[in-house]
Amino acid sequence: MIPVLTIDGPTASGKGTVASRVAEALGFALLDSGALYRLTALSALEAKLALDDANAIAALARALPVQFAADQILLAGRPVQDAIRQEAIGNAASKIAALPAVRAALVELQHSFRKTPGLVADGRDMGTVIFPDATLKVFLTASVQARAERRYKQLIDKGFPANMLALLQDLKERDARDTERAAAPLKPAEGAHLLDTSDMTIEQSVAQVLDWWHHRSGTQ
Ligand code: CDP
Repeated sequence: MIPVLTIDGPTASGKGTVASRVAEALGFALLDSGALYRLTALSALEAKLALDDANAIAALARALPVQFAADQILLAGRPVQDAIRQEAIGNAASKIAALPAVRAALVELQHSFRKTPGLVADGRDMGTVIFPDATLKVFLTASVQARAERRYKQLIDKGFPANMLALLQDLKERDARDTERAAAPLKPAEGAHLLDTSDMTIEQSVAQVLDWWHHRSGTQ
C-alpha cells in the first residue's frame, strides 16, 4: 500500500505550507485538495453557474481540464495558481464544497495523486473520507486571530487587497460552513494527532509532523 500522510484543518491554519514542506522533506507527492475546490469554483463562476447548481457544478468538477506542473496549475492551459487564491474564489469554493455531488465528483481525481513513494494530502476530509487508511493523520489548528493574520499577510504578499476585519468575519463564516455541513464536515479523524500552531513557527510545525511520521512509519 502506498503510504499517505493527511493534514486536515480549518482555513488559513497553515496546513498548505506545512504539507508542502513535509512532502518535500519526504520526497512525496502533494495533494492540495482545496485547490481542486477552488478550481471548480473558478470554473463555475466563469461559466456563470449559480453556486447552488449542484448537478452542473459536479459535471464541471468531473471534467476539470487541469494540469499540475512544477509550480503552476493550468486550467485549460491557462496558469491560474494565483487567480484561485483570491478571497472571492475561496468563499465560492467553500460554498460549492458543501454540495455532496461536487465532493463525489472530485474523489477519483484526489485518489489519482496517490503515487509511490508516498503522498502528503492536505484539506478538510483527507483523513476522514478520502484516505481513511492513511499511515499518519494530523489535524492542524490555530486561533482565529492567528489565522486571520496569516491570511492577511498571504494576500498582501500576493498583491491582493485585504482588510483585517473583513477577513476575520470571512474566516468565521467559512469555519462555520466547513464544520456544520452534512457532507464531510471538518473534524479531526479518529486517531489524528492534534497540532495547535498559534504560537509555533512553520519550521517547528514541520519538524513536529516529520517526527510523528518517522515514529509511525519506523523510518529515520
Ligand atoms: O486556504 P483555505 O484553507 O481557506 O482553503 P483551501 O484549503 O484552499 O480550500 C478552499 C475551500 O474548499 C475550503 O473553504 C473548504 O470549504 C473546501 N475544501 C473542502 O471542503 N474539502 C477539502 N478537502 C479541501 C477544501
